[in-house]
Amino acid sequence: MPSTPKETPSSILIIGSGVFGLSTAYALAQREAFKRTKITLLERMDFPAPDAASIDSSRIVRPDYPDPAYAALMAESHKYWRGDFGAEGRYTESGLCLVTDHPDDSAESASGNYLVKALENVKKSLGLKVGRREDGGQVEPLESARAVNRVMASMGGDCGQSGYVNWTSGWADAEAGMHYMRKLVAATGRVEFRTAEVERLHYGESKVESVELASGEQLHADLIILATGAWTPKLIDLRGIASATGQVLAYIDITQTEQDRFGSNPTLLSESSGMFIIQPRSRQLKVARHGYGYANFVTIPHPERPESAGEKITVSLPRTKQDDPNINIPPEGDAACRAYLRKTIPDLADRPWTQTRICWYTDTINGDWLIDYHPTYSNLFLTTGGSGHAYKFLPVVGERIVDIVLGVERDELGASVRRKWRWPEKRGGDDHVWTGDWRGGVKGMVLDEELARGGTVEKEKARL
Ligand SMILES: Cc1cc2nc3c(=O)[nH]c(=O)nc-3n(C[C@H](O)[C@H](O)[C@H](O)COP(=O)(O)OP(=O)(O)OC[C@H]3O[C@@H](n4cnc5c(N)ncnc54)[C@H](O)[C@@H]3O)c2cc1C
Ligand SMILES: *[C@@H]1O[C@H](CO)[C@@H](O)[C@H](O)[C@H]1NC(C)=O
Repeated sequence: MPSTPKETPSSILIIGSGVFGLSTAYALAQREAFKRTKITLLERMDFPAPDAASIDSSRIVRPDYPDPAYAALMAESHKYWRGDFGAEGRYTESGLCLVTDHPDDSAESASGNYLVKALENVKKSLGLKVGRREDGGQVEPLESARAVNRVMASMGGDCGQSGYVNWTSGWADAEAGMHYMRKLVAATGRVEFRTAEVERLHYGESKVESVELASGEQLHADLIILATGAWTPKLIDLRGIASATGQVLAYIDITQTEQDRFGSNPTLLSESSGMFIIQPRSRQLKVARHGYGYANFVTIPHPERPESAGEKITVSLPRTKQDDPNINIPPEGDAACRAYLRKTIPDLADRPWTQTRICWYTDTINGDWLIDYHPTYSNLFLTTGGSGHAYKFLPVVGERIVDIVLGVERDELGASVRRKWRWPEKRGGDDHVWTGDWRGGVKGMVLDEELARGGTVEKEKARL
């Protein structure tokens, strides 16, 4: 059980300024309970950190959650995206076309099952109008490849065998949304922002004694909130609970004519491969994969033991362009993005990437986030484990996080998410977490091995 602090903390230190850290800061700053609390938000880079999971050109905002808790939270968030939060191009309601690539993708495969179930829901309509967009439809079943390719006609290629479009889905300009949230936080005048990297936490028997910065400076706070995304396993032992997994992104430049051609498409997401293409913006198009990702194993001092103990653990942590400016996606990921682009938009088949990026998810065993007090250290609270789907909740998740900090259950949803996000009763069998949540790609890839394959992209295609 989470132990709620008996008194309101007089100081709170939030570490990490991504979706979780920033939204927590905003909610804390608004609550009566914390009006005398000193709130500090620490970030290792000048905001926005270009390698943070929350910073990119686009993130899908989809309400299609089979889990009722996330669906309900998304319904709250949707109101914000459709209002001021999503104004000035921060949110575009372009629709999401979710397809399968295999004609035989049936109830036999877990992912196939998801689509079958979702399609049943579409038919039951759930209060949404079923039909084509031009007829005012909000969800549109696509029961053949021809129906898929009619909706995605401008792409010109093979976009999938069947599926549906949810026209009430959209996408967010991720970096712009984060800038907007950061302005809201600054406007409260309640939060002190500081750029500094946390080197380590010093653990006592039942609490965190201090927070050590890379400069050597020690910070103290009544409550420490870790919101360090995929870097969190460096600061606390999360073996068998959460791990950093590297996901591939590849970008191409397109012409204005091509921008006009693809610019009003729905997002295309293949549940067979995890590959997706969000509608382009500002003449840039992105191909990406929601996959099991790469593990980047590093051996580090055990974060909870004194350095003098010499104990080491091996965990997966991000490796980004901040660590190695020349790092690109491995040939395997490059080939997967290339093959998907070629298949769906044959006209752009050979357009070179202008850049590629490995973006780091913080994956948990079942894809639920980790938002709870640490079971051992009473002044340590974690909010992480986004598992590749937290961005869309930016406008509202902070309120839920702060409810959990306070031990308050505002409504049924609050009670349900508090259970869902709590520190797990036991750790998974393996130190590294390969999530069991729905993913494309291959499970078990290690970043260094994939980079070392060094095979040409052409050769890698044969392996796919
Ligand atoms: C490629 C990709 C695609 C995604 N697509 C979607 C999508 O379509 N829809 C959706 O809803 N979600 C999506 N997500 C998931 C969503 O972006 C993440 O769940 C969310 O951004 C996680 O936020 P965070 O705060 O945990 O992490 P981050 O944004 O990474 O924030 C952590 C912050 O902590 C800082 N930090 C780390 N270590 C330290 C330290 N020692 N000291 C100080 N600061 C530190 C980092 O610099 C960083 O700014 C995607 C994620 C990725 C990577
Ligand atoms: C489509 O979006 C709506 C909310 O806008 C949601 O209620 C519904 O479950 C979604 N998906 C399907 C398959 O209907």
